[in-house]
Amino acid sequence: MKIKILGSGAGGGLPQWNCNCANCTQARNRAGEVLPRTQSSIAVSGNGVDWILINASPDLLAQLRANPELQPARSIRDSGIAAVILIDAQIDHVTGLLMLRERTTPLPLYACAPVFDDLSTGLPLVPLLDHYCGVERHEIALDQPFTVAPAQGIRFTALPIESKAPPYSPRRAEAAPGDNIALLIENVATGARVFYAPGLAAAPEPVLEAMRSAQLVLVDGTFWSATEMIDLGLSRHHAADMGHLAQCGYRGQPGMVQLLDTLPSATRKVLIHINNTNPILDPHSAEHAVIRARGIEVGRDGMQFQV
Ligand code: MLT
Ligand code: MN
Ligand code: ZN
Repeated sequence: MKIKILGSGAGGGLPQWNCNCANCTQARNRAGEVLPRTQSSIAVSGNGVDWILINASPDLLAQLRANPELQPARSIRDSGIAAVILIDAQIDHVTGLLMLRERTTPLPLYACAPVFDDLSTGLPLVPLLDHYCGVERHEIALDQPFTVAPAQGIRFTALPIESKAPPYSPRRAEAAPGDNIALLIENVATGARVFYAPGLAAAPEPVLEAMRSAQLVLVDGTFWSATEMIDLGLSRHHAADMGHLAQCGYRGQPGMVQLLDTLPSATRKVLIHINNTNPILDPHSAEHAVIRARGIEVGRDGMQFQV
């Protein structure tokens, strides 16, 4: 089973169009070693030809150009993208659906009921796509393993997690199960597993257990500090208000670094969905050194894994 990080950035990407912070400036000018990053998405394949896209980033077209493996070109109109799974209805994870409208057959789309609800009301991409390629709707049930044709050798399980429904959702303030999920992605032949959660505000025991069962953990790396956006004068919101657990602990509560420390030492730990404000993006920063010293990797676009 192959996993590719198509986009390792959070909403806005890096550089963000209107941002002149140190990271965005470096990434824009290619002045230092801060690499540009597109918005959050991965792809998984069992045979290297048929790919399941997990989240449809606003940068999908650039991601496809950067990853020709996803374009097998078996006929005049063809793509390796066999289906899309959504882990929430956030703009950075769903806008790319619009870029798939030229499909010649309905798009197989897998999501939980609250996500289909948001994508039929506040951001009605599903009814809109009915005027183009159409959507083949597959509702994901929580905690129930499922497969996605034609990738029968890969088993997915959606775990309910604490994060945030999008700002436009009626459930932003009061979450419903299925607004946000983590995915366990299992190679059926070998039993090897990947844990994927670009938005994760907390990891209670069942979530930790899933993380411990995985060889590869691709997890929420949005913020270094819980008050990062406030400290930079960019927002009034803490990381938790946005559904993200920062890498540093806050007010006695452990952060993502402490949480990842509890995983087996053989587990490969990679931060993804990294916001443009996060100092770990600069390989020369002290924060980056802390992450690396803990055996944690900073995700980059184009990283791939064989699991
Ligand atoms: C988030 O996860 O909080 C998002 O990146 C927000 C967004 O897409 O604007
Ligand atoms: Mn996001
Ligand atoms: Zn910036």
